[in-house]
Amino acid sequence: MSPLADRYGRRFPYLRLSVIPACNFRCTYCLPHGYHADPNASQPLSLAEITRLLRGFTELGMHKLRITGGEPSVRQDLTDIMRTAAAVPGVTKLAMTTNGTLLSRRLSEWMDAGLNAINVSVDSLDRAVFARITGHDRLEDILGGIDQALAADLPSVKLNAVLLRGVNDEQLPSWLDYLRERRVGLRFIELMQTGDNLPFFRDHHVRAETLETQLSQGGWQLLPRAADAGPAREYRHPDYAGRIGIIAPYSKDFCAGCNRLRVTATGDLRLCLFGEFGIPLRPLLQADEQLEELVRAIGGQIGRKEQGHFLHDGRTGITPHLASTGG
Ligand code: 5AD
Ligand code: SF4
Repeated sequence: MSPLADRYGRRFPYLRLSVIPACNFRCTYCLPHGYHADPNASQPLSLAEITRLLRGFTELGMHKLRITGGEPSVRQDLTDIMRTAAAVPGVTKLAMTTNGTLLSRRLSEWMDAGLNAINVSVDSLDRAVFARITGHDRLEDILGGIDQALAADLPSVKLNAVLLRGVNDEQLPSWLDYLRERRVGLRFIELMQTGDNLPFFRDHHVRAETLETQLSQGGWQLLPRAADAGPAREYRHPDYAGRIGIIAPYSKDFCAGCNRLRVTATGDLRLCLFGEFGIPLRPLLQADEQLEELVRAIGGQIGRKEQGHFLHDGRTGITPHLASTGG
Protein backbone atom coordinates (compact mmCIF):
# COMPACT_ATOMS: atom_id res chain seq x y z
CA MET A 1 0.00 0.00 0.00
CA SER A 2 1.49 3.37 -0.97
CA PRO A 3 1.79 6.03 1.73
CA LEU A 4 -1.09 8.46 2.23
CA ALA A 5 -0.87 11.55 0.00
CA ASP A 6 -3.50 14.16 -0.73
CA ARG A 7 -4.42 16.26 -3.78
CA TYR A 8 -1.70 18.78 -2.88
CA GLY A 9 1.09 16.21 -2.66
CA ARG A 10 1.20 16.25 1.13
CA ARG A 11 1.90 13.01 2.96
CA PHE A 12 0.71 12.07 6.43
CA PRO A 13 3.24 9.94 8.27
CA TYR A 14 2.03 11.52 11.51
CA LEU A 15 -1.14 10.77 13.44
CA ARG A 16 -2.35 12.65 16.50
CA LEU A 17 -4.70 10.51 18.49
CA SER A 18 -6.69 11.96 21.36
CA VAL A 19 -7.27 9.29 24.00
CA ILE A 20 -9.58 11.32 26.25
CA PRO A 21 -11.23 14.74 25.98
CA ALA A 22 -11.08 15.41 29.73
CA CYS A 23 -8.42 17.57 31.34
CA ASN A 24 -7.53 18.44 34.92
CA PHE A 25 -6.37 21.98 34.02
CA ARG A 26 -8.42 24.99 33.01
CA CYS A 27 -6.21 26.99 30.70
CA THR A 28 -7.74 30.38 29.99
CA TYR A 29 -7.57 29.89 26.21
CA CYS A 30 -8.86 26.31 26.16
CA LEU A 31 -11.10 25.23 29.07
CA PRO A 32 -11.45 28.36 31.24
CA HIS A 33 -14.21 26.73 33.30
CA GLY A 34 -12.57 23.32 33.41
CA TYR A 35 -13.70 20.21 31.59
CA HIS A 36 -17.37 19.29 31.78
CA ALA A 37 -18.32 15.90 30.44
CA ASP A 38 -21.11 15.76 27.93
CA PRO A 39 -23.49 13.18 29.44
CA ASN A 40 -24.47 12.02 25.95
CA ALA A 41 -20.92 11.57 24.70
CA SER A 42 -19.66 8.08 23.89
CA GLN A 43 -16.79 6.51 25.81
CA PRO A 44 -13.29 6.99 24.43
CA LEU A 45 -11.94 4.24 22.17
CA SER A 46 -10.95 1.07 24.00
CA LEU A 47 -7.45 -0.38 23.85
CA ALA A 48 -8.63 -2.96 21.29
CA GLU A 49 -10.19 -0.25 19.10
CA ILE A 50 -7.05 1.88 19.32
CA THR A 51 -4.91 -1.10 18.29
CA ARG A 52 -7.04 -1.71 15.18
CA LEU A 53 -7.00 1.98 14.34
CA LEU A 54 -3.20 2.11 14.50
CA ARG A 55 -2.85 -0.99 12.33
CA GLY A 56 -5.00 0.74 9.72
CA PHE A 57 -2.93 3.92 9.77
CA THR A 58 0.43 2.13 9.63
CA GLU A 59 -0.81 0.29 6.51
CA LEU A 60 -1.11 3.74 4.96
CA GLY A 61 2.39 4.89 5.91
CA MET A 62 1.90 6.39 9.38
CA HIS A 63 4.99 5.91 11.53
CA LYS A 64 4.82 8.69 14.10
CA LEU A 65 2.05 8.65 16.67
CA ARG A 66 1.33 11.41 19.14
CA ILE A 67 -1.00 10.69 22.01
CA THR A 68 -3.00 13.77 22.96
CA GLY A 69 -6.11 14.69 24.95
CA GLY A 70 -7.56 16.59 26.75
CA GLU A 71 -4.87 15.48 29.11
CA PRO A 72 -3.84 11.92 28.20
CA SER A 73 -2.70 11.07 31.72
CA VAL A 74 -6.26 11.50 33.01
CA ARG A 75 -6.87 8.15 31.34
CA GLN A 76 -6.17 5.25 33.73
CA ASP A 77 -4.86 2.82 31.10
CA LEU A 78 -2.51 5.31 29.44
CA THR A 79 0.59 3.17 30.01
CA ASP A 80 -1.15 0.18 28.40
CA ILE A 81 -2.05 2.36 25.43
CA MET A 82 1.59 3.35 25.07
CA ARG A 83 2.84 -0.21 25.32
CA THR A 84 0.30 -1.42 22.78
CA ALA A 85 0.96 1.47 20.39
CA ALA A 86 4.73 1.03 20.55
CA ALA A 87 4.30 -2.64 19.63
CA VAL A 88 2.28 -1.97 16.45
CA PRO A 89 4.64 -2.76 13.55
CA GLY A 90 5.49 0.46 11.73
CA VAL A 91 5.17 2.80 14.71
CA THR A 92 8.73 4.09 15.09
CA LYS A 93 8.10 7.24 17.09
CA LEU A 94 5.73 7.45 20.02
CA ALA A 95 5.16 10.94 21.36
CA MET A 96 2.74 12.49 23.82
CA THR A 97 1.53 16.01 24.49
CA THR A 98 0.82 16.52 28.16
CA ASN A 99 0.38 19.26 30.73
CA GLY A 100 3.03 17.43 32.73
CA THR A 101 1.12 16.96 35.98
CA LEU A 102 1.99 13.26 36.17
CA LEU A 103 5.33 13.47 34.41
CA SER A 104 7.61 13.30 37.43
CA ARG A 105 5.65 10.35 38.84
CA ARG A 106 5.17 8.33 35.66
CA LEU A 107 8.14 9.13 33.44
CA SER A 108 10.06 5.91 33.89
CA GLU A 109 6.93 3.80 33.51
CA TRP A 110 6.07 5.62 30.29
CA MET A 111 9.60 5.31 28.91
CA ASP A 112 9.56 1.58 29.67
CA ALA A 113 6.29 1.36 27.76
CA GLY A 114 7.98 2.85 24.68
CA LEU A 115 7.41 6.60 24.90
CA ASN A 116 10.24 8.45 23.17
CA ALA A 117 9.07 12.04 22.87
CA ILE A 118 7.10 14.49 24.99
CA ASN A 119 5.70 17.96 24.46
CA VAL A 120 4.84 19.61 27.74
CA SER A 121 2.67 22.72 27.89
CA VAL A 122 4.50 25.40 29.87
CA ASP A 123 3.05 28.78 29.10
CA SER A 124 5.26 30.68 31.53
CA LEU A 125 8.31 30.14 33.75
CA ASP A 126 6.83 32.55 36.26
CA ARG A 127 5.00 30.62 38.94
CA ALA A 128 2.19 33.15 39.41
CA VAL A 129 1.65 33.67 35.69
CA PHE A 130 1.62 29.90 35.13
CA ALA A 131 -0.97 29.47 37.87
CA ARG A 132 -3.09 32.26 36.47
CA ILE A 133 -3.12 30.72 32.98
CA THR A 134 -3.69 27.08 33.93
CA GLY A 135 -5.63 27.46 37.19
CA HIS A 136 -3.03 25.27 38.97
CA ASP A 137 0.06 26.21 40.94
CA ARG A 138 2.05 23.26 39.59
CA LEU A 139 4.92 24.86 37.70
CA GLU A 140 7.72 23.65 39.93
CA ASP A 141 6.71 20.01 39.87
CA ILE A 142 6.23 20.11 36.09
CA LEU A 143 9.66 21.68 35.52
CA GLY A 144 11.09 18.95 37.77
CA GLY A 145 9.51 16.31 35.54
CA ILE A 146 11.01 17.94 32.45
CA ASP A 147 14.49 17.92 34.00
CA GLN A 148 13.99 14.26 34.87
CA ALA A 149 13.11 13.52 31.24
CA LEU A 150 16.29 15.27 30.11
CA ALA A 151 18.39 13.41 32.67
CA ALA A 152 16.83 10.11 31.54
CA ASP A 153 17.82 10.96 27.94
CA LEU A 154 14.32 10.90 26.58
CA PRO A 155 15.15 11.46 22.88
CA SER A 156 12.84 14.43 22.33
CA VAL A 157 11.71 16.93 24.94
CA LYS A 158 9.69 19.92 23.78
CA LEU A 159 7.83 22.65 25.59
CA ASN A 160 4.79 24.48 24.23
CA ALA A 161 4.02 28.05 25.22
CA VAL A 162 0.94 29.72 23.81
CA LEU A 163 1.66 33.44 23.32
CA LEU A 164 -0.89 35.62 25.09
CA ARG A 165 -0.78 39.38 24.70
CA GLY A 166 -0.44 41.14 28.02
CA VAL A 167 0.04 37.87 29.90
CA ASN A 168 3.23 36.08 28.84
CA ASP A 169 4.41 37.76 25.65
CA GLU A 170 7.32 39.63 27.21
CA GLN A 171 9.16 36.80 28.88
CA LEU A 172 11.84 35.97 26.34
CA PRO A 173 14.75 36.67 28.76
CA SER A 174 13.60 34.05 31.28
CA TRP A 175 13.15 31.54 28.46
CA LEU A 176 16.64 32.23 27.15
CA ASP A 177 18.13 31.52 30.59
CA TYR A 178 16.19 28.28 30.65
CA LEU A 179 17.37 27.21 27.20
CA ARG A 180 21.03 27.97 27.65
CA GLU A 181 21.89 24.58 29.18
CA ARG A 182 18.81 22.53 28.38
CA ARG A 183 18.44 20.46 25.23
CA VAL A 184 14.77 21.24 24.85
CA GLY A 185 12.83 22.56 21.90
CA LEU A 186 10.63 25.42 23.03
CA ARG A 187 7.66 26.13 20.78
CA PHE A 188 5.95 29.48 20.88
CA ILE A 189 2.45 28.96 19.55
CA GLU A 190 0.27 31.78 18.34
CA LEU A 191 -3.13 31.68 19.98
CA MET A 192 -5.70 30.19 17.66
CA GLN A 193 -9.33 31.13 17.56
CA THR A 194 -11.63 28.22 18.37
CA GLY A 195 -15.41 27.99 18.56
CA ASP A 196 -15.48 28.91 22.25
CA ASN A 197 -12.77 31.52 22.74
CA LEU A 198 -13.57 34.50 20.47
CA PRO A 199 -13.60 37.30 23.10
CA PHE A 200 -10.44 35.90 24.68
CA PHE A 201 -8.85 35.59 21.27
CA ARG A 202 -9.64 39.23 20.43
CA ASP A 203 -8.01 40.39 23.68
CA HIS A 204 -4.94 38.20 23.66
CA HIS A 205 -3.98 37.13 20.15
CA VAL A 206 -0.52 38.36 19.25
CA ARG A 207 1.50 37.58 16.15
CA ALA A 208 4.87 35.94 16.74
CA GLU A 209 6.64 38.35 14.40
CA THR A 210 7.93 40.73 17.11
CA LEU A 211 9.39 37.76 18.90
CA GLU A 212 11.05 36.49 15.73
CA THR A 213 12.62 39.91 15.17
CA GLN A 214 13.99 39.80 18.73
CA LEU A 215 15.39 36.33 18.08
CA SER A 216 17.14 37.38 14.87
CA GLN A 217 18.59 40.44 16.61
CA GLY A 218 19.86 38.19 19.40
CA GLY A 219 21.76 35.99 16.94
CA TRP A 220 19.25 33.17 16.56
CA GLN A 221 19.35 31.59 13.13
CA LEU A 222 16.38 30.27 11.23
CA LEU A 223 17.05 26.70 10.16
CA PRO A 224 16.20 25.67 6.62
CA ARG A 225 12.96 23.75 6.61
CA ALA A 226 13.52 19.99 6.49
CA ALA A 227 11.52 18.17 3.83
CA ASP A 228 9.57 16.18 6.40
CA ALA A 229 9.21 18.99 8.96
CA GLY A 230 5.87 20.08 10.34
CA PRO A 231 4.58 23.64 10.37
CA ALA A 232 7.04 25.08 12.95
CA ARG A 233 9.80 27.53 11.99
CA GLU A 234 12.93 26.45 13.91
CA TYR A 235 15.69 28.68 15.28
CA ARG A 236 18.99 27.80 16.90
CA HIS A 237 21.85 29.68 18.51
CA PRO A 238 25.46 28.53 18.97
CA ASP A 239 25.46 29.55 22.66
CA TYR A 240 22.31 27.68 23.58
CA ALA A 241 21.62 23.97 24.01
CA GLY A 242 17.93 24.54 23.37
CA ARG A 243 16.09 25.50 20.22
CA ILE A 244 13.13 27.74 19.60
CA GLY A 245 10.29 26.98 17.21
CA ILE A 246 7.52 29.29 16.12
CA ILE A 247 4.11 27.94 15.26
CA ALA A 248 2.24 30.69 13.48
CA PRO A 249 -0.99 29.32 12.06
CA TYR A 250 -1.95 32.72 10.63
CA SER A 251 1.18 32.99 8.53
CA LYS A 252 1.37 32.37 4.80
CA ASP A 253 2.01 28.79 3.73
CA PHE A 254 1.45 27.40 7.23
CA CYS A 255 -0.71 24.60 5.85
CA ALA A 256 1.73 23.68 3.07
CA GLY A 257 3.83 21.91 5.70
CA CYS A 258 0.90 19.98 7.15
CA ASN A 259 1.96 16.36 7.68
CA ARG A 260 -0.64 15.20 10.19
CA LEU A 261 -4.09 13.73 10.58
CA ARG A 262 -6.12 13.60 13.77
CA VAL A 263 -8.45 11.13 15.37
CA THR A 264 -10.67 12.21 18.28
CA ALA A 265 -11.04 10.20 21.47
CA THR A 266 -14.22 8.63 20.14
CA GLY A 267 -12.67 7.66 16.82
CA ASP A 268 -13.64 10.45 14.42
CA LEU A 269 -11.07 11.14 11.73
CA ARG A 270 -10.43 14.89 11.48
CA LEU A 271 -8.60 15.96 8.34
CA CYS A 272 -7.86 19.42 9.77
CA LEU A 273 -7.97 20.85 13.27
CA PHE A 274 -10.34 23.46 11.93
CA GLY A 275 -12.27 21.28 9.49
CA GLU A 276 -16.03 21.26 9.23
CA PHE A 277 -16.57 17.56 9.66
CA GLY A 278 -15.34 14.37 11.32
CA ILE A 279 -15.57 10.92 9.79
CA PRO A 280 -16.57 8.24 12.31
CA LEU A 281 -14.10 5.36 12.12
CA ARG A 282 -15.35 3.58 15.23
CA PRO A 283 -17.79 1.31 13.35
CA LEU A 284 -14.75 -0.01 11.43
CA LEU A 285 -12.79 -0.78 14.60
CA GLN A 286 -14.99 -3.55 15.94
CA ALA A 287 -13.19 -6.63 14.54
CA ASP A 288 -9.73 -7.43 13.17
CA GLU A 289 -11.37 -8.56 9.92
CA GLN A 290 -12.38 -4.96 9.17
CA LEU A 291 -8.78 -3.85 8.58
CA GLU A 292 -9.05 -3.68 4.80
CA GLU A 293 -12.29 -1.73 4.93
CA LEU A 294 -10.77 0.67 7.46
CA VAL A 295 -7.71 1.29 5.30
CA ARG A 296 -9.96 1.96 2.30
CA ALA A 297 -12.10 4.37 4.31
CA ILE A 298 -9.15 6.39 5.61
CA GLY A 299 -7.44 6.41 2.21
CA GLY A 300 -10.64 7.65 0.56
CA GLN A 301 -10.99 10.56 3.01
CA ILE A 302 -7.47 11.89 2.46
CA GLY A 303 -8.58 13.06 -1.00
CA ARG A 304 -11.04 15.42 0.71
CA LYS A 305 -8.44 17.28 2.75
CA GLU A 306 -8.53 21.00 2.00
CA GLN A 307 -5.43 22.96 1.02
CA GLY A 308 -5.64 25.22 4.07
CA HIS A 309 -7.72 26.31 7.03
CA PHE A 310 -10.15 29.24 6.91
CA LEU A 311 -9.11 30.83 10.21
CA HIS A 312 -8.43 34.14 8.47
CA ASP A 313 -12.13 34.37 7.77
CA GLY A 314 -12.92 33.48 11.40
CA ARG A 315 -14.10 30.02 10.35
CA THR A 316 -13.02 27.70 13.14
CA GLY A 317 -14.84 24.58 11.97
CA ILE A 318 -16.35 22.23 14.52
CA THR A 319 -13.61 22.69 17.15
CA PRO A 320 -15.10 24.32 20.30
CA HIS A 321 -11.67 24.16 22.04
CA LEU A 322 -8.51 22.18 21.42
CA ALA A 323 -9.20 19.77 24.28
CA SER A 324 -11.89 18.30 22.03
CA THR A 325 -9.52 17.40 19.21
CA GLY A 326 -6.16 17.07 20.85
CA GLY A 327 -4.55 20.32 19.67
N1 5AD B 1 -4.33 28.18 20.51
C1 5AD B 1 -3.05 27.74 20.49
N2 5AD B 1 -2.62 26.68 21.18
C2 5AD B 1 -3.51 26.04 21.94
N3 5AD B 1 -3.38 24.96 22.74
C3 5AD B 1 -4.59 24.68 23.27
N4 5AD B 1 -5.51 25.57 22.85
C4 5AD B 1 -4.86 26.43 22.02
C5 5AD B 1 -5.26 27.57 21.26
N5 5AD B 1 -6.52 28.02 21.25
C6 5AD B 1 -2.11 24.26 22.95
C7 5AD B 1 -1.84 23.88 24.37
C8 5AD B 1 -0.98 22.66 24.23
C9 5AD B 1 -1.26 22.14 22.86
C10 5AD B 1 -1.86 20.80 22.87
O1 5AD B 1 -2.15 23.04 22.25
O2 5AD B 1 -1.19 24.84 25.09
O3 5AD B 1 0.38 22.96 24.37
FE1 SF4 C 1 -5.96 21.05 29.45
FE2 SF4 C 1 -4.23 21.37 27.49
FE3 SF4 C 1 -6.61 22.58 27.36
FE4 SF4 C 1 -4.78 23.38 29.17
S1 SF4 C 1 -4.62 23.50 26.91
S2 SF4 C 1 -6.96 23.03 29.56
S3 SF4 C 1 -3.77 21.49 29.71
S4 SF4 C 1 -6.26 20.39 27.30
